[in-house]
Amino acid sequence: MNNFIFHSPTEFIFGKATEMQVGALAKKYSARKVMIVYGGGSVQRSGLLDKVKHSLLEAGILFCELGGVQPNPVDTKVYEGIDLCRREQADMMLAVGGGSVIDTAKAIAAGVPYDGDFWDFYIGKVQVTKALKVAVVLTIPAAGSEGSGNTVITKLDGLQKLSLRTSGILRPVFSIMNPELTYTLPAFQTACGIADMMAHIMERYFTNTKEVEIADRLCEGTLKAIISEAPKVMKEPRNYGARANLMWSGMIAHNGTCGVGCEEDWASHFLEHEVSAIYGVTHGAGLAVIFPAWMTWMVEHNVDKIAQYAIRVWDVPETGNKEAIALEGVSRLKAFLSSLGLPVMFRELGIEKPDIDRLVDSLHRNKGELVGNYVKLTRESTKEIYDLACGE
Ligand code: NZQ
Ligand code: ZN
Repeated sequence: MNNFIFHSPTEFIFGKATEMQVGALAKKYSARKVMIVYGGGSVQRSGLLDKVKHSLLEAGILFCELGGVQPNPVDTKVYEGIDLCRREQADMMLAVGGGSVIDTAKAIAAGVPYDGDFWDFYIGKVQVTKALKVAVVLTIPAAGSEGSGNTVITKLDGLQKLSLRTSGILRPVFSIMNPELTYTLPAFQTACGIADMMAHIMERYFTNTKEVEIADRLCEGTLKAIISEAPKVMKEPRNYGARANLMWSGMIAHNGTCGVGCEEDWASHFLEHEVSAIYGVTHGAGLAVIFPAWMTWMVEHNVDKIAQYAIRVWDVPETGNKEAIALEGVSRLKAFLSSLGLPVMFRELGIEKPDIDRLVDSLHRNKGELVGNYVKLTRESTKEIYDLACGE
């Protein structure tokens, strides 16, 4: 196991009606004026935005608003938010929504106290050393941004989708997680969230680091919980217990717990970010196509952990050779994703003929000549993986 630091200072307030505590919590974290950030309308339709405002008013917290954050959020909204926040002198970002909203709020939080262009953080020109506080009311378990220090933004000019990873400074001070708020999710978004949280675990699980039994078992256990709860929410969207288990799984999947002491991979995410940047698809759906292709490629190049995953997560019998076991694991993963209504090849994602040369060029321009860690992928390898994602 490698040395590690695990610092996860977020306060989680989990359960029914917890959104009513948002005003008191903002006060506890010394907010004077919050900027409420939200998406394209779901929080207005569900009445959540009104409840949040009511709770803030009751606690005597001032607020301003930035709505209209789109899925796969873009830099122009961040610039708008930075201007608004400076004008209004807000001192806390309150994201009410999913990963896109939270990531936009984090980008604004880092951008406001910085004199230069916030994009400098994403291209690695400077580190974030100062940021406004970020708080969250989560409406979709998926990206895990409610417990992570990360944010992902797309620069519209050139469609460059980049992630900024911080160890602590952009982790929310508090995250409110009420599973009831996820009842209104369309089935497709629920399924995409499930694919995303599974991917966050698998990016950590597929490691060459030895003696990481605790991380392995946390990953396997959480994946098994997701696999058992997912069909329940697809069948009964208002099943509180299943929604609650999935919501917490999405947080565990991405706050760092599952990767302690491991060298993590992340190639599938980087491969996918190119797809969602260029074709505008939902991140989780893109992962449902890319991750099985990545795993299939790995069967020939580094099979050990893929076989372990097949046996321990998908209960593939330990008969035959490792390659056959691993391939059966990939096939069970694909069948599971398909059963949730997710695509598992480009065509099903609505992309008949992906421009693979463009995807590969953009990926290596953004991430360097070698991508990932489980096997360091060259241009030739990433092209083969995109080809595999085209299916037969
Ligand atoms: O915009 P509204 O109207 O709110 O609708 C949203 C949006 O259309 C809708 N939605 C959310 N909660 C809802 C709801 N509809 C009905 N009822 C509810 N309760 O769902 C749609 C998707 O929302 P979005 O925020 O985009 O989803 P998600 O949480 O999957 O976030 C995706 C973004 O996060 C990035 C992805 O790349 C993508 O840009 N990621 C961020 C990460 C991080 N910060 O650590 C890690 C991830 O790997 C990921 O890359
Ligand atoms: Zn993801």
